[in-house]
This record gives sequence, C-alpha cells and structure tokens, in this order.
Amino acid sequence: MNQVLAEVAVQSAKSPYMLHHLDNEIFKDSIHGVFTKAEWNSYLQNPNYIILEVFYHNQVAGFCLCIQMDHIDLLKIGILKPYRRKGCASFLLKELQKLKKTIFLEVEEFNHSAIQIYLKHDFSFNRKRLFYYSNQSHAWEMVWHP
Ligand SMILES: CC(C)(COP(=O)(O)OP(=O)(O)OC[C@H]1O[C@@H](n2cnc3c(N)ncnc32)[C@H](O)[C@@H]1OP(=O)(O)O)[C@@H](O)C(=O)NCCC(=O)NCCS
Repeated sequence: MNQVLAEVAVQSAKSPYMLHHLDNEIFKDSIHGVFTKAEWNSYLQNPNYIILEVFYHNQVAGFCLCIQMDHIDLLKIGILKPYRRKGCASFLLKELQKLKKTIFLEVEEFNHSAIQIYLKHDFSFNRKRLFYYSNQSHAWEMVWHP
C-alpha cells in the first residue's frame, strides 16, 4: 500500500515510544489505563500480538492492539481526537477482518461511539461481562465471524 498517497493507511507498529505516546494521549483518563514503554516493547517482540498504526494523510492517528491465536482478541483500539470520524478506526477493523478469523472484543457498556462502530462492522453482542473493569463497570463481549 502506498502510505503517502492514501488518505488513510495502516502499517505494523515498530516503536514502543510512539505506541506509548498514542496510548497515553488517547487512554490516560480512561478505565483502560496506559501501558508502559517496556510493556509496549514486550508486545512488539511477541509474534502473537498484532499491533497496527493508522495514518491519516501520512500523520499517525491511532493504533490497535490484538492477540492472534485461532481467533483474534482485540484488546485496544484508539484514535487521537483530531482524527476521529474520518474512518481511521474503520480502516483498522477492516484490516483485522481481512485475516478471516473470528474477532472478540470487550467494550464498556456505555461506550456508545465504540459500540456503534463495531455494529457498523458487523460485530454482534455475544454476552455481558459483569464487573469486567477495575471501576466495576460492565462490558459487552462482542464478536465478528468471517
Ligand atoms: C471509538 C473510536 C475508536 C472510533 O474511531 P473513529 O476513527 O472516530 O471511527 P470511524 O471514523 O471509523 O467511525 C466509523 C463509524 O463508527 C460510528 N462512530 C464513531 N464514532 C462515533 C461517535 N462518537 N458517536 C456515534 N457513532 C460513532 C459511526 O457510525 C461512524 O461512521 P460515520 O462517521 O460515517 O457516522 C474513537 O472514538 C476512540 O478512539 N475513542 C476513544 C477510545 C475508545 O473508546 N476505544 C474503544 C475501546 S478500547
């Protein structure tokens, strides 16, 4: 893919510093918490993890973090505020769906923007996970089948 010409483009992440920066900008005030640079470094070195960065007009806009086994667990997806509603997260989800494996994720039950995007990409509600987060809030487990 030609990352310079495309409006939205994706590549495998390489830098724990960039990932920590993005993670901190997007998730610092959220229930999800922020991984340290050392944690990002260990994920980058583990071949079971898929870590993608998304670019909008060649500017880094966000990331997703997944574990790949016989299925995929989408652990985190986030887009920097100035780049939201431009299709960046959709692009990441489509890249994951190209792998043709079942994808599971958890989403906080009142995170309507995230739930909307998952529904738009044909995820469905699988089960409710009570007290899933550290603040005791509940999550929906959602699933997409190829
Ligand atoms: C949820 C999030 C990843 C969406 O990223 P995004 O790049 O803005 O999403 P897209 O532009 O691809 O949106 C695709 C569709 O999702 C839905 N959507 C996205 N944001 C929405 C919002 N704030 N309200 C309602 N629907 C929304 C819409 O249907 C949208 O299509 P449209 O713009 O044509 O109406 C982003 O808002 C984010 O990073 N939020 C904070 C982190 C987070 O909550 N992550 C998920 C839990 S780990």
